[in-house]
Amino acid sequence: MYELTVQAPPGDIITCDPARLADAMNIDDPSRLSIEIMGSRALVTIYPYDPLADVLMPDPDCLVMDVTGRIWIGSYHNGRPTKLRLYDPKSGSAQRMLLFGTTGAGKSTGGQIILAAMKRSGVGVFYADLKGGQSAPEARDNVDWCVYTQEGAIAQLRTYWNIMKERERRYAEAGRSKFLMNRPDPLMYMVVDEANRLLEKGAPYRDEATFYIKDIGRTGRSLGMGIALFAQAGHLEELGGSDTLRSMLKEGEVILLRWTSNLMRQLVSDGLLPAGQKLASIPKYAGAAKLVSQFDTTVEDEDRPGTQGSGYLLSGPSPTARMRFFRVGSPVPTEGLDPEMLALYGDGPHQVLEEESWEAAGEAYVKKLDGLEAYQLACPEKVDDPEGGGAGGRGRAGNGGGGNRGGNGGGRARSAPVPVIPTPVREPRPASRLTLAGRVQAVLENTDGEDLDIHEILAAVNADGGRQVGLGSVRNALRGLRE
Ligand SMILES: Nc1ncnc2c1ncn2[C@@H]1O[C@H](COP(=O)(O)OP(=O)(O)OP(=O)(O)O)[C@@H](O)[C@H]1O
Ligand SMILES: [Mg+2]
Repeated sequence: MYELTVQAPPGDIITCDPARLADAMNIDDPSRLSIEIMGSRALVTIYPYDPLADVLMPDPDCLVMDVTGRIWIGSYHNGRPTKLRLYDPKSGSAQRMLLFGTTGAGKSTGGQIILAAMKRSGVGVFYADLKGGQSAPEARDNVDWCVYTQEGAIAQLRTYWNIMKERERRYAEAGRSKFLMNRPDPLMYMVVDEANRLLEKGAPYRDEATFYIKDIGRTGRSLGMGIALFAQAGHLEELGGSDTLRSMLKEGEVILLRWTSNLMRQLVSDGLLPAGQKLASIPKYAGAAKLVSQFDTTVEDEDRPGTQGSGYLLSGPSPTARMRFFRVGSPVPTEGLDPEMLALYGDGPHQVLEEESWEAAGEAYVKKLDGLEAYQLACPEKVDDPEGGGAGGRGRAGNGGGGNRGGNGGGRARSAPVPVIPTPVREPRPASRLTLAGRVQAVLENTDGEDLDIHEILAAVNADGGRQVGLGSVRNALRGLRE
């Protein structure tokens, strides 16, 4: 193994193309080469083999958070442990976390290492997988609340936000300015995998999601409520507007796995990568690529190993040093849940939210609901509000909707000041996804001007497959429609 330190004249910045450097040094496999650049200095290490070919976890117990609040998730090329901060015991704060990478880069698998570490460290987790549960099926029984739909994700975010407000109130009452882990409340995390599906342009709940994520990121830390997003993104703009993520990127824990050139360009142009720091790109495959002559009959038809899980911990002490998540899971796909993955989490119970906050969390949490049912319970004002806003209200053209409408007719969840902006609807919604006003309107339209009295309208609305409603609500909805 060789290590070279390179120093350019002061004022010069070193730039380097790893493939060209490897070629110039006659190294056929660029993954044997590590190049770390900090302005005018660089550290080049040449290994006899790919140092990150096999990063094995010594024992799942090593996932437990250490006294500095960090978890061990993998290894740097030089063999040093890669540690990700979940909690800062000095300031008593939870973290904001971003795990970025293009498709297949290893976000969900790396994410499972983080989720398992959270479970083993007594951290309570709300987990939303917007890939319908495909990303990390083993997480289901190993987190406090797991959802697989856009509606479920919004219900979780809203519930998490309500809990945050409840903790804020309790801590203020107790005269506490800091969160102390497990004294008495557990550290909590809201984790969203495939967060891009929630935040990209045209996503049905983009505005609500952006609001909650921003607010949780801003105020959750000192209440022991962190947030983690796993996302593939070509542009920060795709993720709820760049502002949402800019502060998370600047101050949060950030792991960048294999990226797209668009994303890298934006990270650099936004100044999100410190000046002078250059990241060597991560190819899809490791090992040497070969030129094979058509006359060569000796060449074996072997796949080159992938680089999944390789990336950079931008917020760590060595942001330009290549790291890799532990290799986890069974080597070949298993039928059903992967026992190796389950073993990561261990058999023990997972952490749950403190009982004091259950009432604020509401029924969606207590019953661990998903889908529209969770959404309706967590965001009652979006459903009851005859003027729209929220779930179905966005469907009506010209509906100004939104804003904080305050009281919600006895629903448990508090109303959040979520800006609701009308977005066009592409397909008709089933009754279960419309506001009451929308359902009433559908009944009126379907009866072709036939004169129905209010009781007949009520009966028709209650027969459309949606939530059962009362006479007063239908009367209000009709009044709203006439105005
Ligand atoms: N740390 C790891 N250990 C072992 N295998 C891994 C690891 N990371 C990724 N892989 C392999 O790569 C595949 C793709 O990884 P993963 O599903 O985590 O990527 P992803 O970034 O979440 O992709 P997508 O954007 O499609 O959801 C996995 O099925 C697994 O086989
Ligand atoms: Mg994934």
